[in-house]
Parts: sequence; C-alpha cells; structure tokens
Amino acid sequence: MSINLTPRLLAVASLVRGGSIIADIGTDHGYLPIYLIETGKVPAAIAADIGRMPLENARKSVEECGLSDKIELRLSDGLQNFKATDVREIVFAGMGGTLIAEKLSEILWVKDESLHFVFQPQSRAEDLREFLFSNGYSIGEEIATHEGRRSYITFDAVYTGQTKKFTPAECFIGKLPHNEDAHNHLRKQSARLQKKHDALKAAGEDVSALSEIITAIQEFIND
Ligand SMILES: C[S@@+](CC[C@H](N)C(=O)[O-])C[C@H]1O[C@@H](n2cnc3c(N)ncnc32)[C@H](O)[C@@H]1O
Repeated sequence: MSINLTPRLLAVASLVRGGSIIADIGTDHGYLPIYLIETGKVPAAIAADIGRMPLENARKSVEECGLSDKIELRLSDGLQNFKATDVREIVFAGMGGTLIAEKLSEILWVKDESLHFVFQPQSRAEDLREFLFSNGYSIGEEIATHEGRRSYITFDAVYTGQTKKFTPAECFIGKLPHNEDAHNHLRKQSARLQKKHDALKAAGEDVSALSEIITAIQEFIND
C-alpha cells in the first residue's frame, strides 16, 4: 500500500527538510511519516501520539505499508518521552497552536539551533507564533492551503536564541504569502476578531488593540 496525501499534509511534507529521522507528534493515522519514507525524503521516523487508539491506527497503516522496521511508534505526551538525540526534525500537525506552544515550553532541549520544526496548528496559529517570537525561534516559510471550506496554515521554524520584537498583528499574519488561500484565511481571522471586537465594544470595553490587529490584517490583504 502507498499513501497519497491531501493538500493539507502535502504542505507539511513540503516543509520537511528531510535526510534525517523525524518525529511526528500527534501522528494519529501515521500517514505523514509513511509518505515521507515512501517518497525517500526521510530514512526513518518516530510516530508519536498521546493516545493508544491513534497509535494503534498508525500501527495498522505502518504494517500495511510494510514499514514497521522504519517507523517506531511511541506513546508520548508531546516530546515528554523523547530525548535530545532522538531526532533532528520535529513535526506538530493537527493540534491547536496553544497546545503546541505548551508542549514546546515543557522541554528544555528543544532550544537547539540544529533542530528543524514544522508546524500546522489547526487553530490559534497566533498563539504559537507569539510563543516562537518570544522564545527565540525564527519562522522560515509559511504556506496556506485549503480543503473544502477549511483553511490551513503550515510553517517551519528554527531556534536562533534571538527574541524578536513583534506586534500582536504579526502573530496573526506571520510570514504568510500574498495569495488567495492566505488572504481567505486572514479574512476568516479578521471576521472572528471583528465579532469579538463588537461584543467587547457593546460591553464598554477598550477595543483599541483589537482594532489595530483588524486594521493591520485588512491592510495586508489589500496590499
Ligand atoms: C487531529 S489529529 C492530527 C493527526 C495528524 N497529525 C494530521 O495532521 O493529520 C491530532 C492528534 O494529536 C494527538 N494529540 C493530542 N494531544 C497530544 C499530545 N499532548 N501529545 C501527543 N499527541 C497529542 C491526538 O491524540 C490526535 O491523534
């Protein structure tokens, strides 16, 4: 059996540098590591998940593809059951941005300039970008994709040790390119923020910070 990925996971695969063992945190079905090995991009992988059932899903896929000798399945909450020398490349896809940031903050050895990260937060990408900017990580490339009506943001990052000055709006925009998928994603974020803005304004709260973010997003889209 061979795995064909949909555009969402293809975006993740495209940002994987390859050439070394990767960790896929929150692997569930295990499709990403299988695809990366089948296409020759990585030699081996550790597919990790916090849940026994998802790991069982991954085990079945890995066995069907005859890759049990190349993909280790590991029960782990984030990177808790990993050590610094296990992998050089780490993927977090399909978990919320807030949770990914929390999982990174638990592990000291992730502050390592030789590690490469690929993230696809399924929600609150802004929380993950804020964490990365505040903790010495630098975002490389961002890709926006969609499947049906859902949009997905994927980006890679490395640790540089240099914290960056950033505005709240930059946490929403990141390094997104100017294309239809990115603009559609930002329109949805802007609509979400506008609802929050209107509710807070009606309650007599200060909405100047939210207004600034919404304006910056609109300016980016219209640029
Ligand atoms: C929506 S699935 C994403 C599967 C796959 N990565 C993808 O993008 O298609 C999220 C997976 O993350 C796992 N997960 C949630 N919290 C986790 C944690 N703290 N550590 C590891 N895995 C976690 C869930 O069990 C689930 O299998």
